[in-house]
Amino acid sequence: MQQDIDRLNQMREQAQAAGGPARVERQHKAGKLTARERINLLLDDNTFQELGMFVQHREVNFGMMNNRPLGDGVVTGYGTVDGRLVYVFAQDFTVMGGSLGRAHADKIMRIMDLAMENGAPIIGLQDSGGARIQEGVAALGGYADIFLRNVMASGVVPQISAIMGPSAGGAVYSPALTDFVFMVQDTSYMYVTGPDVVKTVTHEEVTHEELGGAITHSTKSGVAHFASENEHHCLMQIRELLSYIPQNNLEEVPRKAAIDDPLRMEHELDDIVPENPNKPYDMKHVIELIVDDTEFFEVQPNFAANIIIGFARFAGRTVGIVAQQPQVLAGVLDIDSSTKAARFVRFCDAFNIPLVTLEDVPGFLPGVDQEYGGIIRHGAKLLYAYSEATVPKITVITRKAYGGAYDVMSSRHIRGDIVYAWPNAEIAVMGPQGAVNIIYRREIAAAEDPEATRAELIQEYKDTLANPYVAASYGYVDDVIEPHRTRPAIIAALEMLQNKRQENPPKKHGNIPL
Ligand code: HXC
Repeated sequence: MQQDIDRLNQMREQAQAAGGPARVERQHKAGKLTARERINLLLDDNTFQELGMFVQHREVNFGMMNNRPLGDGVVTGYGTVDGRLVYVFAQDFTVMGGSLGRAHADKIMRIMDLAMENGAPIIGLQDSGGARIQEGVAALGGYADIFLRNVMASGVVPQISAIMGPSAGGAVYSPALTDFVFMVQDTSYMYVTGPDVVKTVTHEEVTHEELGGAITHSTKSGVAHFASENEHHCLMQIRELLSYIPQNNLEEVPRKAAIDDPLRMEHELDDIVPENPNKPYDMKHVIELIVDDTEFFEVQPNFAANIIIGFARFAGRTVGIVAQQPQVLAGVLDIDSSTKAARFVRFCDAFNIPLVTLEDVPGFLPGVDQEYGGIIRHGAKLLYAYSEATVPKITVITRKAYGGAYDVMSSRHIRGDIVYAWPNAEIAVMGPQGAVNIIYRREIAAAEDPEATRAELIQEYKDTLANPYVAASYGYVDDVIEPHRTRPAIIAALEMLQNKRQENPPKKHGNIPL
């Protein structure tokens, strides 16, 4: 027996040695950790159970039989984060560049299947040269098998990708199908075709970083949700994200013992909205003042910053927050902010996370670029996402709710469960200036003093329509609340709605305007 155990230990050592000391050193010099180092940081201490350590490829071409590393360039298994089960795979760039062949793909698929069967999140730490060139179509097939599982797992278990090295070509589509994409600044990049191909085809000169680095994807394209400062930061952010979300679509949101007073009144809120409706204020500060312990885990903070999305807790329970940011583009809805919020709303709905919407929206962004870019179909995504969502939905109109944007932002009409408005709220088809110019064009033109007449008419319009009481008289606003009472009001509504059951009509699936 001892001999057998010795052999086992020897093989384990061999597998754990990854691509050998030189390649490990190269990895470290590049500012990157090895696959096993990453897993150890991600998971609770000593909880990692590895599966498939002895898997080897069976490719015979290109002299591959002489190079059959144990584990085939990916470390797979399960463990816990804050005591909760997760499945993890980490590609090992020191072994054949982390390239994905048949056996490598099979290992990832096994982890995904287990995650689906047992209802726990899948975390993929990606660091790979892509499809293993020597394995040809077997490698391409491996990717497609994973893509299919990504799609099947979507909305069943949370899927998180961390890009910690290269991710190029079709390989990018696996992370793109997952719920959250983290990228590490300076050491990761994602693109469909690299700078060389771009130069040949479009004559544009661009670096790896400019084309597909963490900053690019977290600010310009919206492909990445987080641009982490380094790998340690990235793995800690993943742990934090997991603390907010349930294990699967059948579970309730995790509950943290709350210390923050649920009845806390926040009088600072009474003065936060400026008298002048065109002046901005910081909606993130509003969020911090109302949620538990000022803790807000923002998602996509640097992309389409005119809308804020992220997770927080009320009385210990997770909610998803969607809020306009009046400090950026006056909080207007445009193409990017609509798609950003729509995807988040759908994630929350899929995983039973109640939605709290803080609304201060002057409308949809006008302009040729927006119209040509398809603001109609992109705005429709947000409308669709809110309308189909059956989780508890609470809306607080903090100032403006104008035009179609009023309807879209979780209004009563699209099954917003409780809608509150602050007393200064303006809810109407359009702002006073624009409205008066249209409906009183002739009167203003004919007036002795057009400016004075315009000002009078604007005031009349504000008094009549741009306030919360018309909406409240129709029952579209359930209550007008003092800003300082926002936290207790939201918590009461969330508790009232905690057993909410609502179903959409049976169908194969809807047809969201993609
Ligand atoms: C096989 C690969 C590989 C690959 C890297 N390696 N990529 N082996 N298939 N795709 C190997 C290298 O031969 C090398 O082996 C080791 O990994 C490290 O690679 P280096 O080139 O030395 O590293 P570096 O200089 O850091 O460059 C990394 C890289 C480069 C930029 C990723 O390796 C590269 O361009 N690789 C090819 C990328 C690519 O075009 N992949 C296909 C994308 S298309 P040794 O033995 O020397 O250590 C795709 C399709 C997916 O993936 C389809 C889905 C539909």
